[in-house]
Parts: sequence; C-alpha cells; structure tokens
Amino acid sequence: MTATMTAAAPVNAAPTRNAKLAAWVHDMAAVCKPDRVVWTDGSQAEYDALCESMVQSGTFIRLNPAKRPNSYLARSHPSDVARVEERTYVCSAVKHDAGPTNNWAPPAEMRAKMRSLFDGCMRGRTMYIIPFSMGPIGSPIAKIGVQITDSPYVVVNMRIMTRIGTRVLEALGDTAPFIPCMHSVGAPLAPGQKDVAWPCEPDIAKKYIVHFPDTYEIWSYGSGYGGNALLGKKCLALRIASVMARDEGWLAEHMLIMGLQAPDGEKTYIAAAFPSACGKTNLAMLVPPESYKGWKVTTVGDDIAWIKKNPTDGKLYAINPEAGFFGVAPGTNAKTNPNAMASIAKDSIFTNVGLTDDGDVWWEGMTPTPPAHLIDWKGESWTPDCGRPAAHGNARFTAPAHQCPCIDAQWENPAGVPIAAFVFGGRMSKDMPLVFQAFNWSHGVYLASTMGSEATAAAIGQAAMRRDPMAMLPFCGYNMADYFTHWLNIGRRVANPPRIFRVNWFRKNADGKFIWPGFGDNMRVLKWIVDRVHGRGFAVESPLGWMPRYEDIDWKGIDFPAATFHDLMSVGREAGAAEARSHEELFDRFLDRLPKEFIFERELFRSRLWRSPDRWELAQE
Ligand code: GTP
Ligand code: SPV
Ligand code: MN
Repeated sequence: MTATMTAAAPVNAAPTRNAKLAAWVHDMAAVCKPDRVVWTDGSQAEYDALCESMVQSGTFIRLNPAKRPNSYLARSHPSDVARVEERTYVCSAVKHDAGPTNNWAPPAEMRAKMRSLFDGCMRGRTMYIIPFSMGPIGSPIAKIGVQITDSPYVVVNMRIMTRIGTRVLEALGDTAPFIPCMHSVGAPLAPGQKDVAWPCEPDIAKKYIVHFPDTYEIWSYGSGYGGNALLGKKCLALRIASVMARDEGWLAEHMLIMGLQAPDGEKTYIAAAFPSACGKTNLAMLVPPESYKGWKVTTVGDDIAWIKKNPTDGKLYAINPEAGFFGVAPGTNAKTNPNAMASIAKDSIFTNVGLTDDGDVWWEGMTPTPPAHLIDWKGESWTPDCGRPAAHGNARFTAPAHQCPCIDAQWENPAGVPIAAFVFGGRMSKDMPLVFQAFNWSHGVYLASTMGSEATAAAIGQAAMRRDPMAMLPFCGYNMADYFTHWLNIGRRVANPPRIFRVNWFRKNADGKFIWPGFGDNMRVLKWIVDRVHGRGFAVESPLGWMPRYEDIDWKGIDFPAATFHDLMSVGREAGAAEARSHEELFDRFLDRLPKEFIFERELFRSRLWRSPDRWELAQE
C-alpha cells in the first residue's frame, strides 16, 4: 500500500508513469478532499490489513475461522441493499442515444452536479485508488479501469471480483487508456465525528449512478452496495462495455458461460442470459442428475460475458471479464448449488446474511432446519418464528472464482471459449414453455428482445412483470433499438452463428407451485440444446419455434409424466395473441429506430399462431 497525504501529494508521488492517471487522481483528490490517498497494490497483506481495520471499525465481523476461514460478514444500511435503477443514468450528448429505457440528463449539467456532490465528500476518510483489469491482465480483450473510492469494503470486494493492483498499473504503462470510475459512499466525516459501520447516503433520491458513454466515464455517489459500488461489474463491464462493443463490433452481455462435456469428450460451450436473481449462478455451476453418467459441467463465468469474433476461425468466442462471484445467497445450499457452497467455504465476504451463534453464516434455504437462534442481517436477535427473514432477499456472497470446484480449465484463456448456443430465460409463471429454439438468427434476436421476467429482490422498486430484452434492460449503455440492430448485424458477420434458445424454469401450476424441478434437472433441457446445436436432436415446428417432443428429452432417473410436460410446453392461441400485442406495445417505444425485421417477425408469429394446423399439438391449449 502506498499512502500519501493529499496536501503534500505532488503528481509524481503516484506509483504510475501514466501521466493521465496521475493527473486525474491529483484532480480528484483536490475535489474530494480526503484525509489520505492510498494506492492499492492488490497484495494479500494489504487485503488482510484492510479486513482487520474493518473488523476494528465495526464494518466487518470476522467469521469463526474453524468454520469459515478468512471470511467476513458485513451488514449494510437498510436503505442500501440493491441496485438503484431509478437513480442510474446514461448521459450521452444526445438524449435519444440513451434511448427510452435509460434515465438521462444533459452531460454538462450532470457533470456539474457530480462535481458539486463530490466536493469534499471524502473529508475524514481515505481515498483508495484501485487499478483493475476486466479480463486476464494483458489479454487483448481485457479493459483496464481505475476506481477511486472511499470505501475499504469496495476495495476488498474488488480484489475478489476483478484483478487489481500494481500488476495492472504495469500493464497500463505510460500511455494506455483506462476507464475512470469515480465512487464515494457520500458520507463525509466532520472533525471528531464517529464513523458508522456502513456509511452511505441514506436518501435514495440523493444516490447517483452515472455513466458518460461518449467519454467512457463512470461516477457513482451515495451507495456502497453491489453493482452501485463495485464499478467494474455492471457500470464498466456492461453499461460502458456495451457502448464500446457497439463501437468496436463485439458484445458485452449479462450472461453466464458454461461448458458441457459429453461422455465421449465432446465439449460444447454455451452462454445464457437471465435477468438478475433468475438462476445464472445456479445454471453455470449445475450438477447433472445421477443418470447423466459421464457428463461434466464446467463454469467459465456466472454473470457477464464479453463475446468477440475470433479473427482466425470467424466464430464467436467469450471471456468472463470477472474473477469472482457476487452471488445471491438465499436459496443457495448443498442441493441447489454444491459448487457455490464449496466456492464460499473460505476467503469469502458475506453481505446481509444471518450470523449464527457459533460465528458462521446462514440464510433462508441454506439448511432445511433453521438454527434455533441467530443475529439477522439488521443486527437483531432472530428466531425461526419471529416473522422476519434472517437474510435480506438480495444478500450476497463474494467468492474467488478459482475456488469453484467446477471452474473450467479455460476460464482465464485470454482468447475465450467458442460459443455454440445462446440461451435466454426469464422468470415467467405462465404462458412460456420450458424450452424452444429460434428458427434462425433474426428470429432468435427477436425472441431475446421480447424476453419478460417477474420481479426479484436484486433491484429496488421493480414492477411485477417487465420486458427485459436480453436481460440487459438495466445494463445497456445506449438506445436499445440500436442494440437490437447491433445484435442482428453480429449474426451476419460471424461464421456459423450460435443457435438461439428460450427457456423458462419458472412456470407454475394452479396451486402456485413450480412445475419444473429445475436446478440439476435443467441438464435435461441443456442436453437437448447440445443435441440441436450438433444437428442431432429432434424437434417439431410450433408457432413459437422448434420444440422438443416428450420423447426428445432424456427422462432417465426422473418420473416426469408426459401430461405434465405438455402443461409445461403448451401456450394457448389467445395467450400467444396477447403476447404478440404486448410485443407491439414494447416496440412502439423504440419505433423510430426499431429494426424492420422485428415488425415482420411479429407478423410471422401472429400468422403462425392462427394458421398452424391441428397436428401442431405441443403448443395448443
Ligand atoms: P444476478 O447475480 O443477480 O445477476 O443473478 P443470477 O441470475 O446469477 O441469480 P442466481 O443464480 O443467484 O438466482 C438465484 C435465484 O434463482 C434463487 O431464488 C434460486 O432459487 C432461483 N433458481 C435458480 N435456478 C432455479 C431453477 O432451476 N428453478 C427454480 N425454480 N428456481 C431457480
Ligand atoms: C445483478 O443485479 O444482476 C447482479 C448483482 O449481478 S449487482 O452486482 O448488484 O448488480
Ligand atoms: Mn447480474
């Protein structure tokens, strides 16, 4: 750790030869007026010292080292528990370039606003400089960012989620560009004022998560939680990267990347987009059912994929720009996700979960029987009958990816892994089948763009059901109509584009219960997808797309009646027609820039609905 006093800190005190970086840090220190400036080196010693200082200050609780070595619990302020989408801005020069789905303000106005908010915002605190790499350091696909923050919690989380420190400064060198990421929790300390465990700006209306896409810049104020504060993740690797991807001809997506290895050794990589808290981590680490002997599932990433055309074979390859998992804790257990449980066995950070009496963590769904007593995420005494949850619905673990037992051997390959299929799935309790395949690329892009999902705890104040194109609604850094066009163009420019599928694990029966067992049994659907990709799997044509018949799915080891499968797969004509009308409503918002293909795809869907003959039985009422 290199520390300097701001008052005496000349630009050349910075441990970098990059003049732009040194000047920016100098300028920001003058604006934020911290007590100290610290350049993080990314070492284990620095990490341990920061954690220890947070234990001393009350931000961290050290977990029982016998149960959970080198791990910590943090409890956030109750106002600061998830991403704040209504406070998230994309400030392009022209409003229309941000599109109808992003909050926008004139960049000059927002810049002035940010400058005034950041003026003196780090008084009484330490300003940390975190050079970080999204993607393996030195990889031609990786991008370097530098986050300035006054949160030591952010520093230690960034060390798990990205690659940080001196080695990144070395890769940056004298002149390479970096993405500046300004962050403050927005809670300056007056002289002598005692700090709190989780400093932040408690008024949600005063939090700002701001992106300047024209200059590739990020400013985040007032929140210390997750995607609001770990700026490499959603802000850089999705919102800003999606703009870079548009400019440079690639894709930055809210997708997991997984490998599926068949018993004969054939390996197929797929990338799958699901909205927040809809099962990416679970799917990425799936354990196949017992009956799938010889099948092996491996994880490349669980949240973000950067996908580019390989110059040699012309196909799409994906890298995971992250180095850790920031996963939803509730519902994670030895049955639903044993690989995640193993990943968090040590060296992990837990936020907003329960603390057991023996110094370990617990959350809803972790064990069938809850502990008789614990301390809940708000720091209050908790018993199973107290009527309050022990963990917040968006409680998270931060764990190093290399600790995952099923991490893919290629997960840090700078060239990425070849993607054979894109899978898209939302949380839909009705009228959306378990699985179907798009007829072709443009139909697939249409299916992905019309994806819908029901609300989860990952964002504050989300509507009951919303359209979430490609699971990117909160993460696309430009006009989504242009993004649809970009997707259509990518398919035209690559060799053998990935096949596109829709899935839905979340359909419910009349009693409100999930019809599909999900989790490991999702392997049955993935196997059909793998077969289709390699031209083996059988399918019938339905108005929605290619669908498996009951006999096309491998049911070994499960008693799943054909009639229940029919319930999972069928969509009534009326429901289909209503869906088409609702697509029209969705796309009317983008009409001036909407790709023409989408109008025709909708009309084709409508025509198929009414004209399909009676032998089309799978998608009938
Ligand atoms: P972010 O990290 O927020 O982007 O989300 P994610 O997509 O990685 O979410 P995650 O995997 O943590 O989703 C967890 C939620 O999905 C929990 O509520 C799980 O119970 C639920 N879930 C995951 N897989 C399945 C499944 O196959 N079936 C059902 N019914 N629920 C599932
Ligand atoms: C999501 O909300 O999609 C996440 C968690 O992956 S956060 O990093 O908080 O955005
Ligand atoms: Mn996510």
